[in-house]
Amino acid sequence: MMSGEVSFLKTTVSNPATSPSLTDALVTTVSTKASAVLALLKNATVEFKSGELVNMSFANSFGAEDMVLTDIILKNKLPIEIFSLDTGRLPTETYDLMAQTEAHYNTKLNVYFPQASTVEFYVKNHGINAFYESIALRKDCCHMRKVEPLQRALKGKAAWVTGMRTAQATTRSSLPVREFDEGNQLEKFNPLSDWTEQEVWAYIRLHQVPYSALHDQFYPSIGCAPCTRAVAMGEDVRAGRWWWEDPTSKECGLHVKK
Ligand code: ADX
Ligand code: SF4
Repeated sequence: MMSGEVSFLKTTVSNPATSPSLTDALVTTVSTKASAVLALLKNATVEFKSGELVNMSFANSFGAEDMVLTDIILKNKLPIEIFSLDTGRLPTETYDLMAQTEAHYNTKLNVYFPQASTVEFYVKNHGINAFYESIALRKDCCHMRKVEPLQRALKGKAAWVTGMRTAQATTRSSLPVREFDEGNQLEKFNPLSDWTEQEVWAYIRLHQVPYSALHDQFYPSIGCAPCTRAVAMGEDVRAGRWWWEDPTSKECGLHVKK
């Protein structure tokens, strides 16, 4: 079976989204955009240098966009700390990719976990899968498993980097490349803001970047296992995240504006 293909009942279905046709025009656009991202991040590391330290971090969820940024940061040895939030409910494929990333780039990951006592209290009071029961319980779960660890990861930082794109969701339709993050009180960079899904995948193919096996199985956006499903062809890329909720309000709290 070729890369980018998945078997259903002995039929092989190819996911066209993860294997775009690498036309000359696409290759040129991606190369220009990748150089612009590198220049932006390089300048930011100069701007946010404090003594010997660069006070800047990149939040890596191991989604396709974040693997593009991981590749750019690590191959160019940019002094940007990379961290990830392990919610404790991630899909196996994400853990496999974490291990693959460490081996591929010969690096060690910085992983933040939720506070055990908060999770224990929530589970005891509400149940292990309580996030399906109400939006409030879903948001509390995202808060203890993602938002609080993010706050710890960003403590003392002057800037952070995300892999968000404008085209991912209605909630991201006016996403600047650079903004002040009021909630966390530091500068925020979204270098892939104007990238298309096709450009992300062209970069991954051209640079042979490791990626999650779930992307080939029609999961364009990957979060926690119980809150992520595959999407049908033509469906919105984030349709599989918290699919039971209204699309205009589905953010986990990592990126809400104050
Ligand atoms: S979110 O709704 O979960 O926040 P999404 O999965 O689209 O959204 O991720 C957007 C960006 O938030 C990612 O590109 C990454 O920078 C950051 N992010 C999301 N989840 C994590 C995670 N588990 N660890 C680190 N960063 C994350
Ligand atoms: Fe909890 Fe689901 Fe949010 Fe993960 S995505 S933190 S499991 S509610």
